[in-house]
Amino acid sequence: MKKISLYFSLFSLLSCSKQTFTACDQSSIYSHATFPVGVAVDVSELKTNSQYRSIVINQFNSITAENAFKFLHVQPDINRYDWEETDYLVDFAKQYNKRLHGHTLVWHSQLPSWIYGFTGNWKELLRDHITQEVGRYKQDIFSWDVVNEAFNEDGTLRSTIWLDHLGVDYIRLAFEFAHTANLEAKLFYNDYNLESNPAKLKGVIDFLTHLKASGIQIDGIGMQMHITNTFPSINQVAEASKTIADAGFLVHFSEMDVYMNTADGKTFLSKSELQEQANRYASVFTTYSQLNEKNQFGITIWGVSDADSWIPAGLPLLFDYSYEQKPAYCACKSLK
Ligand code: XIL
Repeated sequence: MKKISLYFSLFSLLSCSKQTFTACDQSSIYSHATFPVGVAVDVSELKTNSQYRSIVINQFNSITAENAFKFLHVQPDINRYDWEETDYLVDFAKQYNKRLHGHTLVWHSQLPSWIYGFTGNWKELLRDHITQEVGRYKQDIFSWDVVNEAFNEDGTLRSTIWLDHLGVDYIRLAFEFAHTANLEAKLFYNDYNLESNPAKLKGVIDFLTHLKASGIQIDGIGMQMHITNTFPSINQVAEASKTIADAGFLVHFSEMDVYMNTADGKTFLSKSELQEQANRYASVFTTYSQLNEKNQFGITIWGVSDADSWIPAGLPLLFDYSYEQKPAYCACKSLK
């Protein structure tokens, strides 16, 4: 059975590589936008895959690590930090003159297992982790997702290990520690469904506005923008992002991808699906460009090709399994 599906996948891959699109020129995506256009990268792909690497170098002017800066990877043991991948990426960004966005300091997911048995001082643990990470890259990292996904869909605070041990204050502490470690860095709160769920968006904005009013530096809000070809509507995206901008925050479409509702195991899209996806990318880019310029932080695409996507079944990215450009790639460049 496994063998059959393997053959099927290989066959699909081969037919995929034969797919031809109406190509556009190779000029970088960011040169067509008035805001930075970034990509989430996987460090081992960057090291070993030359097609992947050249797309990152040539097409984008901002980079987020897909995983390398997360707690699990940076502090795998209580007394050990691992900077191998993060140092590599910092050097890469310097060499190719890319803006580096740090993702993420405080999250309930991708935590090392030792933390679940931690019995020491949680405030000091948080302070140490943030101070080490932000401090090490003080000269190199422009901005940070300080807190990720801290809210429930109804706008209340999500129950996490951080909330359990430090109470509501953990969010304030995290922003304070990050600011102290790098006074220059732009600091973000990042979450999903902000584009589609007004209750969640209101909870986030009210909470952050209150913190800001008490003197805490919070510069922006990341809207992850994991969307499908049909949901949410472009009006919802426009309204939610304008609400964030009007509340005085920078807006980052921080993890954009567009999932197509495809049959399992499919590795290519039909012509009409490709076009639908392209239209969706174009309308999100256009909507973003209509925000007040002073609120624009940029759009980051969550991965390079469909082969590398964290949800590959949705075939959600700008390049296909063979690293060929898809119509969505050209659509992102159709702004001017
Ligand atoms: C995802 C990565 O893309 C995967 O490689 C990893 O296995 C799990 O995390 N929201 C976030 C990102 O803030 O960090 C997640 O990234 C996707 C959802």
